Amino acid sequence: MATHSVDTVCVQGGWRPGDGDPRQVPIYQNTTWKYDTSEHMGKLFDLEESGYFYTRLANPTNDAVAAKIAELEGGTAAMLTSSGQAANFFAVFNIAGAGDHVVASSAIYGGTYNLLAHTMKRMGLECTFVDPHCSDEELEAAFRPNTKCVFGETIANPALAVLDIERFAAAAHAHGVPLIVDNTFPTPVLCRPLEWGADIVTHSTTKYMDGHAASVGGAIVDGGKFDWTAYPEKFPGLCLPDESYHGVVYTERFGLEGAFITKATAQLMRDLGSIQSPQNAFLINLGLESLHLRMARHAENGRKVAEYLAAHPRVAWVRHPSLEGDAEFELAAKYLPQGSCGVVSFGVAGGRAAAETLMKNLKLGQIATHVADARTCVLHPANATHRQMNDAELAAAGIGADLIRLSCGIEAADDLIADLEQALAQV
Ligand SMILES: Cc1ncc(COP(=O)(O)O)c(C=O)c1O
Repeated sequence: MATHSVDTVCVQGGWRPGDGDPRQVPIYQNTTWKYDTSEHMGKLFDLEESGYFYTRLANPTNDAVAAKIAELEGGTAAMLTSSGQAANFFAVFNIAGAGDHVVASSAIYGGTYNLLAHTMKRMGLECTFVDPHCSDEELEAAFRPNTKCVFGETIANPALAVLDIERFAAAAHAHGVPLIVDNTFPTPVLCRPLEWGADIVTHSTTKYMDGHAASVGGAIVDGGKFDWTAYPEKFPGLCLPDESYHGVVYTERFGLEGAFITKATAQLMRDLGSIQSPQNAFLINLGLESLHLRMARHAENGRKVAEYLAAHPRVAWVRHPSLEGDAEFELAAKYLPQGSCGVVSFGVAGGRAAAETLMKNLKLGQIATHVADARTCVLHPANATHRQMNDAELAAAGIGADLIRLSCGIEAADDLIADLEQALAQV
């Protein structure tokens, strides 16, 4: 469906029903497939033929939904994972392990930070974090001979920093490594990182893609352009025989367009599990069918609410990439010209106590540990995700005690603003 717009792919991409097939992608709620001969099964195990044998590795429902996400991002292959955390772990671990090094933006989701800074460190992988707006010299200095990839988020959660994808891609490529971009917040409706030079895109589909707070999931998309074979010494897992698969060389057998995802499926799904349940894939697909409509409203509501808050005398500060005057405004204008996302962060005069009063009085914006949902939700990190930190530690982490993260849903902007108005009046 390469000739169709993102809107059309949202609705009809991925699943192509044949004559008499169900119009909606069916849920293959089975673990196993039956074959007539052991020889046939053997060919599947040797990756000589494509087909399904066990849902821990692959399932047709998941593959149809992954194919839609690949089309949306303009990639050549994709896979679904059980969560966004699993997607980011698999994307990095597929090419980097013990003794290797990763360069990552410091403005990333806290779970991904923990994964790279702590859990993967225990696996022998080191990570250097750089400010996404660091100088070229600082970025250059972060690379080591054993660096295997660069990682960042298009729009960081919760910092709302916009990644200069072209700059980070150029730096990664100059060192012979790919750029992995977590595109959860804008989704391919508002930004397609592969078109700006990124090589691999990941998603927490739990957020806007699902959009209804119904299912946790993740996705990895390969752009199919990074030439692993130009650096076989850096990427032996893709360029040399895989002994655990009868010596298959992924780049030779599946080409640049298929090697990365086939290896992640054949090795990592096989050994680590983390497949998405077909039931959840079905739910994500329902979300994808309206993603183009919802993202436009989320982005519009985020901008309108940010503009309202910026003009309110009781609001101390506001951050939203599409808000004129925001530190990220220029990068957002380049990478996110149709809008950025529905997430706004702000602080009210009066600090922590004022934030608590405001949140308690919101009626539509309900308190939830979530973002990117059709229903507006709100979180006070100092009382939730960062509760263990005191005010000084919060300030050092760049998260003020007054910070409120508001995720604008797809309700009417006027109603969200009226809700904020009455809550602010009580602060
Ligand atoms: C940008 C980003 N990436 C990854 C994740 C992790 O995704 P999940 O919660 O689906 O594991 C999140 C979760 O909030 C996120 O915001």
